[in-house]
Amino acid sequence: MTINYKWWKDATIYQVWPASFKDSNGDGIGDIPGIVSKLDHIKNLGADIIWLSPMYDSPQNDMGYDISDYESVYPKYGTLEDMDILIDQIHKRGMRLILDLVINHTAAEHKWFQESKSSKTNPKRDWYIWKPPKYDSKGNRQPPNNWVSYFSGSAWEYDETTGEYYLHLFAKNQPDLNWENEHTRNALYKSALSFWFDKGIDGFRIDTAGMYSKDQRFLDAPIVFPDREFQPCKLYHQNGPRIHEFHQEMFKRVTSKYDAMTVGEVGHSSHDEVLKYVGAGRGEMNMLFLFDMVELGSDPRDRFIYNGYNLPDLKTAVTNQAEFIGTEGWTTVFNENHDQPRSVTRFGNDDPKWRVQSGKLLALLMSSLSGTLFLYQGQEIGMTNVPKEWPIEEYKDINSMNYYNELLQEGASDERIAQFMKVLNLVARDNARTPVQWDASAHAGFSTGKPWMRVNDNYPDINAESQYNDPHSLYNFWKSCLSLRKQHKDLFVYGDLEILDFDNQKTFSFLKKSDDKTVLVVLNFTDKEIDFEPLVKGDLKLLHSNYTKVSQQLEPYEGRVYSVY
Ligand code: NOJ
Repeated sequence: MTINYKWWKDATIYQVWPASFKDSNGDGIGDIPGIVSKLDHIKNLGADIIWLSPMYDSPQNDMGYDISDYESVYPKYGTLEDMDILIDQIHKRGMRLILDLVINHTAAEHKWFQESKSSKTNPKRDWYIWKPPKYDSKGNRQPPNNWVSYFSGSAWEYDETTGEYYLHLFAKNQPDLNWENEHTRNALYKSALSFWFDKGIDGFRIDTAGMYSKDQRFLDAPIVFPDREFQPCKLYHQNGPRIHEFHQEMFKRVTSKYDAMTVGEVGHSSHDEVLKYVGAGRGEMNMLFLFDMVELGSDPRDRFIYNGYNLPDLKTAVTNQAEFIGTEGWTTVFNENHDQPRSVTRFGNDDPKWRVQSGKLLALLMSSLSGTLFLYQGQEIGMTNVPKEWPIEEYKDINSMNYYNELLQEGASDERIAQFMKVLNLVARDNARTPVQWDASAHAGFSTGKPWMRVNDNYPDINAESQYNDPHSLYNFWKSCLSLRKQHKDLFVYGDLEILDFDNQKTFSFLKKSDDKTVLVVLNFTDKEIDFEPLVKGDLKLLHSNYTKVSQQLEPYEGRVYSVY
């Protein structure tokens, strides 16, 4: 197999979500100088690229994914000069920086939308998606169709100024841009992409990268939730008719001019559709985030409908995401980000007895899988979901709050609310958004002021400072995994995957193969001892493990990596 090496394939990428990373000035909100002060934490871990979630100016209804000006920085995070310093300091350490590219929508506060909504004849009217109301048989005004927003309620908002509705697939203050209009596209390329490439960034994580091309018929979506007024509408906005044309144009006009990497958030797509986005000769994007693993157990149409999963489901998810290795495409490896709960809670065991052990097990899994590996802030120290006892007041995310408020409006019973709170605690995005736990001092060393969101109560036990000099800490274990991954990249980054025990509910055993080498990875996903069965012929030599001694038994949450001869 000829390997097509690329810097962005070998790299480990560390995601920084600015509001909760590190506050430098005591206002309780993370900021860019705070990030600069912690770059060595990221560098020493062994990461190569930093992905910075939106730091642009924004009213922060969706924590910066509602951008009011692509060319300026949210003042509480810092200034353009701070960004220059960040870029410089990252490059000085031999790392690279990618930013978040949020171009499916802007904030309603963006000057383009303000112009667009001002009158039907404004030159920017058509930069967003406006439609006249529909009227029901009683003459009541209704939205143009039955599409539901990802943040609950109709995806359309009525605007009194001109008596029309605008489309917002996300929050009300996130109007969707009209990609059909080439002036809109040109303005985006200039303001959102070129402006930052010219400042020296190395690429983009592309938000909702499959949604720009809407089916222009704007038909009602099929009714899949008969008890609900508004229905999921992916069918009409995901992988739409012109989506590949748009990506090719953006690549040709801008991205191709730089030695840049791109990773698109697409979520769910068929194998063939994914290859259209990431096929090497396609000129679109380098790789995609697919949600098979992170959405395990949740209904893809509604994350708060949770049915659970078992280990074979996880293996299927891993397989689905890995199947682009060895094709002309490429893939990503991740199990956390700012939209997902903490992996130790979801896929390991966050009980203090097993937290570190199962965190290490997951580190062995993730660092052995082929594709570009992404880590999310706090994952490397084993941060967990928020405590079960936290009341709804501690949850801040618009996704969580809108859903909760809708339940209240519908008059949901106490039992239904209690059941929702359980699911919320398991899958809410808030779980990833608590401040990073730097040390055991007040507010976990995140800020000298009151943090904008409550710090997880377990910070005295889980914090970075206590892990740096502990050879058995999760931070140092991740470090060893990332270094092993680099050392044997033909196997771990580029190798082929073969699962050996697909139906086993307790262990996950697989081979990774390159042209001339094979490794065996064996992971015990339970809190019980299990007999160790290699399931492969040949001599085994231990390369890595999360226990100091190995025996014929796999200890609870034990993981091992062997060379096979
Ligand atoms: C995906 C982002 O990751 C998420 O945080 C955001 O709410 C939506 N896209 C809308 O931009």
